Amino acid sequence: MKISIITMFPEMFGSFLQGPVLRRAVRKGALEIEVVDLKDYAPGSFRHIDDSPFGGGRGMVMRCQPVIDSLRAVAPAAGGKSRIVALTPAGSVFCQKKAREFAQISHLVLVCGHYEGMDERIYRFVDEELSIGDYVLTGGEPAAMVVADAVVRLLPDVLREGSADEESFENGLLEYPQYTQPADYDGMKVPDVLLSGNHALIRRWRRKESLRRTLERRPELLAKAELSEEDEEILRELKMGENLKGGIFPPR
Ligand code: ADE
Repeated sequence: MKISIITMFPEMFGSFLQGPVLRRAVRKGALEIEVVDLKDYAPGSFRHIDDSPFGGGRGMVMRCQPVIDSLRAVAPAAGGKSRIVALTPAGSVFCQKKAREFAQISHLVLVCGHYEGMDERIYRFVDEELSIGDYVLTGGEPAAMVVADAVVRLLPDVLREGSADEESFENGLLEYPQYTQPADYDGMKVPDVLLSGNHALIRRWRRKESLRRTLERRPELLAKAELSEEDEEILRELKMGENLKGGIFPPR
């Protein structure tokens, strides 16, 4: 797939592009990524990309011309294969499902808004507005990195086989706790079951801890998760009060 990032601050992406997963994706031919500098689309000696808002008020608003010209150059309408996404706190909230959807498309264009926002007319050229959470960043650049990272690691051959399958959100639950050497660190011991070599017991323990975490930390996710009969049984055990720190057992 190809990802184009349109930004006023291309230098912010320097070390991001050098990250191991992105570089691997590019090396494997799974990804082509370009960072497009909006200044290249702002003619004249001032090269201004933003201007003060009509109606007054503080801050600067990104102008139509540089952004729309860059979109026309990067994603020509012919073929219509590009998905144009603007990063803004006013968008719908990005999630793993959306990352999986984006990993299937051939060209993703991420437009980073800045300052007080973009001229509203720019949104006519945008397919979708996305936010990475309910807080306000100074610009869409960190949000574009979040989205690109979440998508690229799902591309074929980028991660080791299966590594993305079991982690948090992929099955609608939070991930179980992980441990590595040493088995005893300063008196803090790794749970015995993980050292037992009994794969069936380990699988059940992991599923239980995954359910426990989700129940304690994000009970609303359980309502949407696909649960097996075994999961229901584990949840009943947890509900009986087995070391459950808190959290409300959702009605099923
Ligand atoms: N730009 C500023 N805040 C943002 C957010 N939370 N998500 C995406 N883009 C943003």
